[in-house]
Amino acid sequence: MVKICCIGAGYVGGPTMAVIALKCPSVEVVVVDLNQKRIDAWNSDTLPIYEPGLDDVVKQCRGKNLFFSTKVDESVMEADIVFVSVNTPTKTTGLGAGKAADLTYWESAARMIARVSKSSKIVVEKSTVPVKTAEAIEKILTHNNKSEIQFQILSNPEFLAEGTAIEDLFHPDRVLIGGRETPEGQKAVQALKDVYAQWVPEDKILTTNLWSAELSKLAANAFLAQRISSVNAMSALCEATGANVAQVSYAVGKDSRIGPKFLNGSVGFGGSCFQKDILNLVYICECNGLPEVAEYWKQVIKINDYQKSRFVNRVVASMFNTVSKKKIAILGFAFKKDTGDTRETPAIDVCQGLLGDNADLSIYDPQVTEDQIKMDLTSKKFDWDHPLHLRPMSDTTTLEKVRVVKDAYEAAKDSHGVCILTEWDEFKTLDYQKIYEGMQKPAFIFDGRNVVDANKLREIGFIVYSIGKPL
Ligand code: NAD
Ligand code: UGA
Repeated sequence: MVKICCIGAGYVGGPTMAVIALKCPSVEVVVVDLNQKRIDAWNSDTLPIYEPGLDDVVKQCRGKNLFFSTKVDESVMEADIVFVSVNTPTKTTGLGAGKAADLTYWESAARMIARVSKSSKIVVEKSTVPVKTAEAIEKILTHNNKSEIQFQILSNPEFLAEGTAIEDLFHPDRVLIGGRETPEGQKAVQALKDVYAQWVPEDKILTTNLWSAELSKLAANAFLAQRISSVNAMSALCEATGANVAQVSYAVGKDSRIGPKFLNGSVGFGGSCFQKDILNLVYICECNGLPEVAEYWKQVIKINDYQKSRFVNRVVASMFNTVSKKKIAILGFAFKKDTGDTRETPAIDVCQGLLGDNADLSIYDPQVTEDQIKMDLTSKKFDWDHPLHLRPMSDTTTLEKVRVVKDAYEAAKDSHGVCILTEWDEFKTLDYQKIYEGMQKPAFIFDGRNVVDANKLREIGFIVYSIGKPL
């Protein structure tokens, strides 16, 4: 029986390993983490992350060939293949602060693997890492290796998106495996290929050298984010000219060279990875003497920041240039629908912007807890190398001005305006007549996700602002 151990039981490690366990009944999978609370949750009925379909997959395999544990050393020691799926956030201090990836967790995992291993292992980079990380990891593993055991490093970046993780893992567009171009390296590539081949068609399993695999992950996220910034840049021009961004996206996406996906105008992209991975790419370009290329990719983030502050400015300007002491309902706080994840959600910047103008916020999200929202709104945001438009206020003032409520109607009651910041399906079918009746007049709706039918709402009496659409 092949034994797999995955270090890091997060958004990637948990779902990915659960699907491997489900699809490969002859493989034993142990997911380990230092965080006892997280492991306890994986072993309970309330999993630590919300992801459609995940409960079912975990229930089918947990206790059979899928285990969650804090016995990190022991599980790594026994494994043939060790996935490393730890977090790789942006560095906040020191060399490269604000851009470079912080590989502290990765390095400590690598040192631990070297320390506890008594047999040869394949070590798989699952985390998103800077190109050439495998070389650094190889050095750590080989220089700390006191016996004759061999380590083969593979790069196997993950492309799943949150909210559709299980579907993405069941039917990936591709699985990418990079390895050394030596006989031992190719043998390791084949061993990992054999795991995925249990459910992924062979022609979708791509093999490359290590550096191409590492860089392809950063490139894919940069291309995806670039599409959103492109469409969001167009949304500003649409608003200035009377064009409709949905019609422009549709017309542009009909070109088969461009394609229709990922062209929805929004209040801005969020999530733990797009910004972090582009900043990482920018840093790598700068370190390789390519300032023009770095500058090009930086623009993707600058437009995203512009879109968020543009939204705040629109809210304040529309409401007679002040939201001071006005109640504003925030519908949706997660960075996208079908997840409870709030990392880098545009809602943080929008809420902080409105709080900066002294608004009173009433926030509702079906999957995000009150504690999480309050923590996000009071944590200091790390400043990367551009001027911040939106400044947080003191923690006590923030907490006094923020209420987290249990449904959209309660959030909207007595408010002057409603901001839709996440595209949860339930926001499409709310009783907007009822919401209108309970609001102060004029009643405003600012649709940051273009999910409501603006014309219908105008018939009710709302003043509606949608991203990139005529007023
Ligand atoms: P996460 O923060 O949810 O999970 C990482 C886990 O690793 C944490 O639970 C942490 O406690 C654990 N950990 C850290 N150091 C450890 C150590 N030395 N030993 C044991 N456990 C340790 O992160 P995530 O969202 O799962 O992302 C992981 C990686 O995957 C990142 O590099 C990210 O860029 C990449 N990625 C994420 C997504 C996504 O949708 N979230 C998608 C593709 C790729
Ligand atoms: C993204 C990528 O889609 C995954 O392929 C990748 O593996 C992952 O990052 C990662 O490396 O972490 P994720 O961030 O989970 O996945 O979600 P997306 O669906 O990509 O959405 C990201 C953000 O862009 C969300 O805030 C979403 O609302 C926004 N978005 C998306 C738009 O504003 N417009 C669109 O057309 C699409």
